[in-house]
Amino acid sequence: MTDHKSQGVFSAKVTSNRRIRACFWTMDLEFTGVGAQAYARFQPGQFVEVDVSNLGLPPEELIAPELRDAVRRNILLRRPFSFADVTVETNRTTAELLYCVLGPASVRLTTLSRGDSLSVLGPLGHGFRVPPGKRLALLVVGGMGAPPIQCLAKLLRTEYAGTHVIAFIGAKTAASLPFAGEFDGMPERIDSFIPAFAKYGIASAVTTDDGSAGRRGFVTERLAQWLDEQRDWLPEQTIIYACGPEPMLAATARLAVERNIDCQVSTERRMACGIGVCQSCAIECRVEGSDETAYRLCCQDGPVFDARTVVFDD
Ligand SMILES: Cc1cc2nc3c(=O)[nH]c(=O)nc-3n(C[C@H](O)[C@H](O)[C@H](O)COP(=O)(O)OP(=O)(O)OC[C@H]3O[C@@H](n4cnc5c(N)ncnc54)[C@H](O)[C@@H]3O)c2cc1C
Ligand code: FES
Repeated sequence: MTDHKSQGVFSAKVTSNRRIRACFWTMDLEFTGVGAQAYARFQPGQFVEVDVSNLGLPPEELIAPELRDAVRRNILLRRPFSFADVTVETNRTTAELLYCVLGPASVRLTTLSRGDSLSVLGPLGHGFRVPPGKRLALLVVGGMGAPPIQCLAKLLRTEYAGTHVIAFIGAKTAASLPFAGEFDGMPERIDSFIPAFAKYGIASAVTTDDGSAGRRGFVTERLAQWLDEQRDWLPEQTIIYACGPEPMLAATARLAVERNIDCQVSTERRMACGIGVCQSCAIECRVEGSDETAYRLCCQDGPVFDARTVVFDD
């Protein structure tokens, strides 16, 4: 951590915590005092590490049967999460955490309710940047990559109103789209189908691997097709922002390089400390101006990187 005035361990108050659908939950947090000031500077794409070591398990009947054994593990380390939304008010900053329950830490988060406190380390890492001169922003989401992209969507709408924004959203199935609502049989066209983006006036193109919502296929194929269909766009005025599984980020990065479009990817490697100590999140990156590569840390140098920098596994 470099700037102790703007990063630290802050206690957030839980103002709501509810299941929106399937394994997906949303938790609203409130920071006051120094924490409110620190999170007022939160950039979309930055993340936090939450401490759930003092939380117990929910009653067994509320835990999905396939997780019941795995979640008994003790929690030693904080866990990284992004924010889907941050709102700055006079004396407080509120943040929305959108999370998927899939293991011992996330299942414990479900036990929190209004009035409880959560220890939050952050804001951590470097978020998305908006270079000057971009008139078209293409947001690419793969499954649980949604939260930082939702946060960015709000920033683009509020501070870069002249930029046209479209969200390309992919998931395995309709059921694994991490949003509130019913998506089975959603049409293929680009429209205001996903409320989390529609509320900022952003239309979405949805793809699922099995075709149960939107177009069948990968989100990167949909993006490539869309780019092929456009007549009046300029690559130099366009930027792609992506967050999701690494194969999706790799495909997005390749597409962006082929078409000479700026692209930033948010890499969600497994992280332990979140602050540059344990080296568990090392990622191979190209060294500018040479053929060499060097390892950088997702938690400190990222999680958002220029797509040309990262060496993705084939
Ligand atoms: C920068 C960053 C931001 C994140 N933001 C969010 C978010 O906004 N919402 C959200 O739900 N999750 C997010 N995650 C993932 C989240 O940290 C994990 O889901 C969480 O740590 C799981 O903890 P657990 O103890 O419940 O499960 P664990 O037992 O730790 O994990 C359960 C399963 O998920 C897999 N897994 C866990 N973390 C990752 C990862 N980073 N990449 C690939 N597979 C993983 C494990 O291999 C295991 O199979 C983010 C991760 C990073 C690094
Ligand atoms: S998570 Fe420990 S160095 Fe990045």
